[in-house]
Amino acid sequence: MTDQHLAVIVLAAGQGTRMRSSRPKILHTIAGRSLVGHVLSTARELEPSHVIAVVRHERDLVSATIAELMPEAIFVDQDEVPGTGRAVELAIAALPTDFEGDVVVVSGDVPLLDAPTLATLITTHRGAGAAATVLSAVFDDATGYGRIVRSSTGDFEAIVEQKDADEAQQLITEVNSGTYVFSLVPLREQLAHVGTANAQGEKYLTDVVALLRGSGSAVTALPVRDGWMVSGVNDRVQLSEASRRMNELIVRRWQLAGVTVQDPASTWIDADVVLNEDVELLPDTQLKGATLIQRGAIIGPDTTLVDCEVGEGATIKRTDATLAVIGAGASVGPFSYLRPGTYLGVGGKIGTFVETKNSRIGDGSKVPHLSYIGDTTIGEHTNIGAGAITANYDDLAKHATTIGSHVHSGSHTVFVAPVRIGDGAKTGAGTVVRKDVPAGALAINVAPQRNMTGWVQANRAGTAAAIAAESADDQAPSE
Ligand code: UD1
Ligand code: CA
Repeated sequence: MTDQHLAVIVLAAGQGTRMRSSRPKILHTIAGRSLVGHVLSTARELEPSHVIAVVRHERDLVSATIAELMPEAIFVDQDEVPGTGRAVELAIAALPTDFEGDVVVVSGDVPLLDAPTLATLITTHRGAGAAATVLSAVFDDATGYGRIVRSSTGDFEAIVEQKDADEAQQLITEVNSGTYVFSLVPLREQLAHVGTANAQGEKYLTDVVALLRGSGSAVTALPVRDGWMVSGVNDRVQLSEASRRMNELIVRRWQLAGVTVQDPASTWIDADVVLNEDVELLPDTQLKGATLIQRGAIIGPDTTLVDCEVGEGATIKRTDATLAVIGAGASVGPFSYLRPGTYLGVGGKIGTFVETKNSRIGDGSKVPHLSYIGDTTIGEHTNIGAGAITANYDDLAKHATTIGSHVHSGSHTVFVAPVRIGDGAKTGAGTVVRKDVPAGALAINVAPQRNMTGWVQANRAGTAAAIAAESADDQAPSE
């Protein structure tokens, strides 16, 4: 149910210089989702009545990404005044005038923070009747973070930024995570008094804490249990650390839901992947995008599936597949390459060194070895011989091949598209099929074989081949 007294502000105006990237930092991805995408999905779980994103750097690209994930988000452009305080000041000005309640502030570059932790922060804030509740963390190395300054009796007094901290303050290990809950009215009141007289010349959001306390409001800082949850991504080292941590969480969630993961460290599962009970994932498997795997399927080792659907009990080994649908009980690999638009029916097979694209292979049909199947429809219970390929491209356009049910193609058949093969038809080994084959016909067009007996002995006399031929038991009668 929507919390009518809750708004979430996502700070997303910064550039993220330390990423050294042409892409805005918060659009870098972990687990197949942008950093800000993770933050938005957490925000959504809180069911706030408003989500406001503050943008500036690459504002069009950033807001387009956010709008796609959260169409209801309100966008606020940060002006020339820098700082998190200014960002929040502009954001709350965009709230509907009749809104009253609490405002959660999160950063677009802190992807691991989860909704239960935020929900606890909100509950604590409301229970204490506080004006500000800050999520803090205790870090061995607090460098770069704002420090939580407490009185001798432990009361939370202020936040001092690293660049403004004196030597004693720099020794403090409790830091500001950059995640807060504020009560709107006192926040608005005190933000108006925040200046920019500090080392960075910015309007710091963190300065409202001391102001709120000075005005007699309650402020609290609540340490987070798992420090990694609030670690931000500032460079590519932290990006990969966050990525690994997120993956650990996702793998663990699926393990607890009944998925066997042999080697969690080499198994990568995107946030939007869906797995079912008794799925088994073997080492070096990556499941990406909107991949869905049904019960009992075995995936891997060495397999990458992007936006694929895999049916119950199917097996996929050493395979690279994108936008493919694999039927129940089907088998794929080892060493198969399934390109977009591949559909494999129930109990079907795409085997070793086979490439498929935009093709429908019906129930029980098999393409077991060394084939290319493109722009093709194959019926049911058809067997394509080893090395058969569809020649779908004539250097101007792609053409379709249609192969019926119960067809048996000989090894190394070339189907020169456009061409149709009727139900139950057969092709001889090495046939180059240029004309349609009617149902039930056997198509052959290879030239009759001629053996030129004694050719090797005559033309390659003295070679190992000639000597072997000379002494062979099955000497052909000379013609
Ligand atoms: C901020 C906190 C610091 C805290 C740290 C936690 C302040 C003054 N300091 O520092 O106490 O320990 O986060 O990570 O808030 N942003 C805007 N507009 C701006 C500036 C920043 O939207 O004008 C956004 C950034 O895109 C980012 C977030 O606010 O998402 C935090 O900004 P950043 O510059 O990273 O703040 P820190 O210096 O890390
Ligand atoms: Ca930061």
